[in-house]
Amino acid sequence: MQVNIPSFTSSFDGQVIIIGFGSIGKGLLPLLRRHMPNLSGITIFDPSSRNASIAYAYGANFIEISITEENYEEQINKVAKDKTFIVNVANEVSSFDLVQLCSEREWLYIDTVVEPWPGTYFNSNLSLEEQTNYALRKKLLSLRNILPTHSTAISCCGANPGMVSWLTKTALLNMAKQYDIDTKRPESREEWSKLMHDLQIRGIHIAEYDSQVPKFPKKPNQFLNTWSPMGFVAEALQPAELGWGTFEEDFPINGNRFEDKDAPAIYLNDPGGKVEVQTWTPEHGKHPGFLVTHNEAISIADYFSLFNGEGELVYRPTCHYAYRPSDVAIESLRELFDDRQTKMQDEWKVLEAEDIATGNDELGVLLYRTDNSAYWYGSTLSIEKTKILVPHQNATGLQVTSAVLSGMMYAINHPAEGLIEAEEMDHVECLYVQSPYLGTIAGHNTSL
Ligand SMILES: NC(=O)c1ccc[n+]([C@@H]2O[C@H](COP(=O)([O-])OP(=O)(O)OC[C@H]3O[C@@H](n4cnc5c(N)ncnc54)[C@H](O)[C@@H]3O)[C@@H](O)[C@H]2O)c1
Repeated sequence: MQVNIPSFTSSFDGQVIIIGFGSIGKGLLPLLRRHMPNLSGITIFDPSSRNASIAYAYGANFIEISITEENYEEQINKVAKDKTFIVNVANEVSSFDLVQLCSEREWLYIDTVVEPWPGTYFNSNLSLEEQTNYALRKKLLSLRNILPTHSTAISCCGANPGMVSWLTKTALLNMAKQYDIDTKRPESREEWSKLMHDLQIRGIHIAEYDSQVPKFPKKPNQFLNTWSPMGFVAEALQPAELGWGTFEEDFPINGNRFEDKDAPAIYLNDPGGKVEVQTWTPEHGKHPGFLVTHNEAISIADYFSLFNGEGELVYRPTCHYAYRPSDVAIESLRELFDDRQTKMQDEWKVLEAEDIATGNDELGVLLYRTDNSAYWYGSTLSIEKTKILVPHQNATGLQVTSAVLSGMMYAINHPAEGLIEAEEMDHVECLYVQSPYLGTIAGHNTSL
């Protein structure tokens, strides 16, 4: 197999603090060593030492401790230097508090999900609305007006949320060519939404099919997944949620609008792990996927909204995740819902690259038009290629870690943009860095 290992480097000479050293943290580390050779140091916080030997092998300082609401400032201050980049890839470590801390100290920041402190995902005392990603995102973005400095903090910059927003923009430009829409590359949010509107895009699926197969079967009372089982269970139990577009005529019977009438999204009474939608990916054609809540369903619908001169909404695409996890993850999810009444299994595990026999992760955006024609654009990355490209991760992991790397390069090159989301970043610059790690990137025409 012909694989080119990318060798670009950044001159950033500050230090990186990684919070959380699970599948994403440990997958990111070799990429940082490859592409950021001048770092003054890397410090990792994680309460579990199961991956500590990987940290040491890459010359990182590993601190076996849980970052909490009570200790985060003290622990981070102990190791931070003037020039610091904080990477938050732990479950339930607050993005809100870390963004504030980083802005105060003029440090760079990135995460892959808007994470709260413990008490949101698995807390039945909260209302459904309070458990949504809309609520988490809204609280985080409220910081924009009050952060003390403009140091760049990138929210939700993994594969999805993250990379899929960059793919959406490329897909729009490809479609414009296909439909002979004369356009230069849009430069503002308004120009991008106008292009999407002119292309008559009714909605967007974040369409992912994970066909990675482990070398062993799932045991009873075990949750197997290709990324955080805890993260997946958390989002599968949150209410299903979707960006709600202007083309929608029938409101779902189990749907709810947010108290904020301008919210670009709605949520359902059912958890995302129980709601299935039909979607499409190139290798697997039409198939069902879970409508699990994700930040990008809201941020994409929000970003590509078009308003008239009076500030009235005239166009918004519907947007949601349509996730077909690996077979063993589906089996794990069914056990969780059907046999365990949503009580998490006692054992859980992320499949390592060497645990996986075959398969790939197809992750792209499916833009469908008012005439039901559709265009999928995305990455198909096999486990075989992943193993050659970089160690310590599977195909799903590499789609995420390469997006984090790309986001970090962006923040280093644009250090004073304040709190931003993936839609607000230059998609060409970001995909240029990430593409060598994405396997085959291609567009396909289809229909819904
Ligand atoms: N945007 C995306 O595309 C994307 C994709 C995959 C994962 N994610 C997110 O990335 C994060 C990490 O995912 P993962 O697959 O690496 O999860 P994981 O479960 O494999 O690892 C999480 C790690 O965080 C550690 N941790 C938990 N609480 C901590 C705390 N308080 N302080 C320090 N460390 C703590 C755990 O011990 C574990 O090692 C999650 O938030 C997940 O939802 C995002």
